[in-house]
Amino acid sequence: MSALAHRESGNGPALVLLHAFPLDGRMWRRQLDTFGVDHRVIAPDAFGFGQSPLPASGWTMDSMAEAVAALLDGLRIREPVILGGLSMGGYIALAFAKRFPERLSGLILADTRADADSPVAKSTRDETIAFVEANSVATQFEKMLPNMFSSAGSEGSRYARELAAEQCIDGTVAALHALRDRADSVAALRSFDFPTLVLVGREDAITPKAVSEVMAKELKRAKLEVIPDAGHLSNLDAPDAFDAAVQKWLNGSAARGP
Ligand code: MLT
Repeated sequence: MSALAHRESGNGPALVLLHAFPLDGRMWRRQLDTFGVDHRVIAPDAFGFGQSPLPASGWTMDSMAEAVAALLDGLRIREPVILGGLSMGGYIALAFAKRFPERLSGLILADTRADADSPVAKSTRDETIAFVEANSVATQFEKMLPNMFSSAGSEGSRYARELAAEQCIDGTVAALHALRDRADSVAALRSFDFPTLVLVGREDAITPKAVSEVMAKELKRAKLEVIPDAGHLSNLDAPDAFDAAVQKWLNGSAARGP
């Protein structure tokens, strides 16, 4: 399987950030700067997004987790990393945590959920697949936008719109299949033994606060942070508050060492 494209900044303990659907690793541009001061921040593009190739088959959360592990191997990062994912990135981070717990010193689950798609959500995915195939990723993202941000027209929403418009239909459709078919990770949460930051925008309409509260309860070593005035894409919607919450957790003893 081909290597994932990525961008990185800084030196120090590795902090890997996995992006949301249907964007790419550039959605972390601000966090690459903020946390690059004392971390090696690595933001890959998922299969078929940004500059990462789309494999002929096999886009699943598990194959993405393996590709992230291969990326770390390629970068000669052998020590445990802090892995963060927002929404779809969180699903991949959960798959990674299940397969490679020994490679984690901490986990950040932002605006995401551990449960699989319900039958209703699966059939909505099928409708979205048909819509994207008949239209464009940009048109699909316009439909999603009101649920992505706490208010319209912010700099973050303009940037997300730009990124979505650059994604290709094939990669987006393959990801939608992977989102629809992803495994449930709820039971696995109880086995995680590393510090986890569960973070959610108070206005998140896609993975609401209650979902994060349930995840935090299931985890042994979780810290829950609710970002005021932020919707689903909380790192773009309220970047100052998002970065402050992550920084506080990184500075805290909970994030130090397994
Ligand atoms: C995302 O932001 O990555 C998506 O909302 C994830 C999803 O649709 O489940």
